Amino acid sequence: MAPQLETIPRIISMTNQVGGSGKSTSGVTIGAICAEWGYRTLVVDGDDQCDASVALGYMNPDAMEGQKTIYDCLANGAKLREAIVPAFAGPAGAAGSKRLANLDLVLGSGEMENAEQHLTTAMARELWLKRLLDQVKGEYDVVIIDCPGNLGLVVIGAILASDEVVACIKPGFKELRGLTRIEQKIALVEEQFGEFGAHAVLKGIIMVDVPTSRSQGAVWDDGKKMAVNSYGDLVLRGHTGEQIGVRRSTKIPESYAHQKVLPQYDRAGEATYDYIAIAKGLGFSKQR
Ligand SMILES: Nc1ncnc2c1ncn2[C@@H]1O[C@H](COP(=O)(O)OP(=O)(O)OP(=O)(O)O)[C@@H](O)[C@H]1O
Ligand SMILES: [Mg+2]
Repeated sequence: MAPQLETIPRIISMTNQVGGSGKSTSGVTIGAICAEWGYRTLVVDGDDQCDASVALGYMNPDAMEGQKTIYDCLANGAKLREAIVPAFAGPAGAAGSKRLANLDLVLGSGEMENAEQHLTTAMARELWLKRLLDQVKGEYDVVIIDCPGNLGLVVIGAILASDEVVACIKPGFKELRGLTRIEQKIALVEEQFGEFGAHAVLKGIIMVDVPTSRSQGAVWDDGKKMAVNSYGDLVLRGHTGEQIGVRRSTKIPESYAHQKVLPQYDRAGEATYDYIAIAKGLGFSKQR
């Protein structure tokens, strides 16, 4: 099926103010699936932990001589294109690593921990990422922004630059309550920056690390009911169609340790299938 013009290009922020909620895993995995399906895909690593960069082949972006990162774009006037590198399964450039077709990365940087400080005094500080992404307009069908685990200025910039926000959460009552804050932030960004084009909507909720055994599952079952009651179809379904989210899988931390995106590391695994279903739930499909 040909891409539908009204749905691409799409800029999607993976958010949650809570750390360790599956943003990076979901961002790079969905990015890899989109790329495989033929979308020209860009993953933007907005987090100082650089997990998206590591997962796409770059263990230490700040140590790459002469290479610009997202921080150089934010703070030092570098062009976004200068921070874009090709994504790999396995360490970039190493023997046996594979260049992933259609998938590029805006390199993260440990210096992003200074981003808030820098942005606080910057002019039009909320627009930083939107302006950078405008530089590559038309070059990508899908842009996925991996956000840090807070709702600070970097994330506000990401929401402002996005068409859609996808919230990633681990199952639990506290985590569900956190969704309200994300919704409030999306509404606030639109209210304050609508005139600058802010229009993101909450497009989906991905539950990750979903327990698969019954003994682990009582709290999860309650959480699942609450999520579906409150958010209905926004809660994305996994492979079976009934089950919600991405099942717990040791392959996920393993694939990260090997610097291989999940579909490359565990092609026929449960979690891979769940992410394929979730990518479809977000409206992506294999392109001809
Ligand atoms: N389905 C899953 N099964 C098992 N482990 C998972 C699953 N999803 C995520 N994890 C693990 O949970 C941890 C957090 O995931 P991830 O790094 O994607 O979250 P994050 O929201 O990006 O975190 P941060 O806020 O620190 O950037 C990682 O160790 C990851 O391997
Ligand atoms: Mg992360």
